[in-house]
Amino acid sequence: MVNGAGAYQVFSDRLAVPDVAEEPLLSGAVRSDWYPVHITVDESEALERLADEVGDRRVALISDDTVHALHAHRLAGALADRGIAVSTTTFPAGEASKSMATAARLLDWLASGAVRRRDVVVAMGGGVVVDTVGWVASVYMRGVPYINVPTTLLADVDAALGGKVAVDHHTAKNLIGAFYQPKAVVTNIGYIDTLDDRQLRSGLAEAVKKGIISSPELFELTERSHARILAREPEALRRLVHAATSVKCRLVERDPYERDLARPLNLGHTVGHALETVTGYGPVLHGEAVAVGIVAAALTSERRGLLPTDGLERMVGLLRDIGLPISLSQLPVDVAVEDLIGALEQIRKIRDGSLRFVLPTALGEVVIADDVSTDEIRAAVSARIGEFAGSLR
Ligand SMILES: NC(=O)c1ccc[n+]([C@@H]2O[C@H](COP(=O)([O-])OP(=O)(O)OC[C@H]3O[C@@H](n4cnc5c(N)ncnc54)[C@H](O)[C@@H]3O)[C@@H](O)[C@H]2O)c1
Ligand SMILES: [Zn+2]
Repeated sequence: MVNGAGAYQVFSDRLAVPDVAEEPLLSGAVRSDWYPVHITVDESEALERLADEVGDRRVALISDDTVHALHAHRLAGALADRGIAVSTTTFPAGEASKSMATAARLLDWLASGAVRRRDVVVAMGGGVVVDTVGWVASVYMRGVPYINVPTTLLADVDAALGGKVAVDHHTAKNLIGAFYQPKAVVTNIGYIDTLDDRQLRSGLAEAVKKGIISSPELFELTERSHARILAREPEALRRLVHAATSVKCRLVERDPYERDLARPLNLGHTVGHALETVTGYGPVLHGEAVAVGIVAAALTSERRGLLPTDGLERMVGLLRDIGLPISLSQLPVDVAVEDLIGALEQIRKIRDGSLRFVLPTALGEVVIADDVSTDEIRAAVSARIGEFAGSLR
């Protein structure tokens, strides 16, 4: 339809009005989100993919101080050189920044003009950055698009994928969050060059976890190639990131909104989260806490007769060979067993009185138990590696 000044956009509708009835009216909202995960090997390739995903939008690029100084300032410059309008901001590196205070500051920054609804937020960094920025993007204007550019191995193979976004609360990790999928993920394994060895090992823990719960192939790939990955051989890194990304995406697709509380992906995370909480989020890296948690779960499983001893040795042996802590005594800070048990009891309270433990029974197979006793947990976390059978004795 045309008037003097231009064209009208016409909407016409003929909705029926049903008779009043006893049954409730139903309201539905079905959504399905698909996004590409580009795994690139250097920054120029990453830039190409990112620029394609951004198109003609403006970019609000958010990273932490460390990532900004190492990589984000350069990426921002390269986007600007391509004629893309970029504004940047940063926050201090580290888990302590994964907070409501940081989120509030970022929301103020976005509201001050960095982003309009059609623009795009780019989260560049490790798990702390992608979790915090993803949550901010999910609430700002009820959701603006965001693209993850992970820079740690842990974020490459885990945190940047799956749309679980959150900040921590002092009472529990990830307490304030949402499910909000990115528009795209652009991974560049080249960023791992500047990552320190300890962080690299921490990232490998999440790859080992996924191998144990769902992919003997990924587990074997990690067994074969961890030394080359720790030496940062690009081809080994690329294969591992590709394999672990694919496994994570397949796992998340089965239940993207975590309707089922029995989640194999939580292997090692019940004890792991409690460990991070009692040590005050920082001194023990997420992957290190998860490694100790995996060992506790595998040991409990073996003691229940669910996991053969050689299976236990293989799982614990791989974590040990990577150089991850496999017992409380190997952590960089002292952790009293009873403090850890106390933190687990706190988690039990938040979760309706039951703690679900993912217990591995073979490579690619787990059971989920809600009857693991405090004594079993105490025994598993205080076990000395010398008590393990066979080669670990
Ligand atoms: N959303 C999820 O599904 C999911 C999954 C796993 C973990 N997580 C979360 O991820 C977080 C841990 O992530 P992380 O281990 O990446 O930690 P992180 O984001 O704190 O990064 C670790 C450190 O490395 C620095 N860094 C990042 N990239 C670097 C690079 N290329 N070179 C040098 N230094 C670099 C950072 O500044 C930081 O100091 C935890 O909060 C955890 O809960 C989320
Ligand atoms: Zn994790």
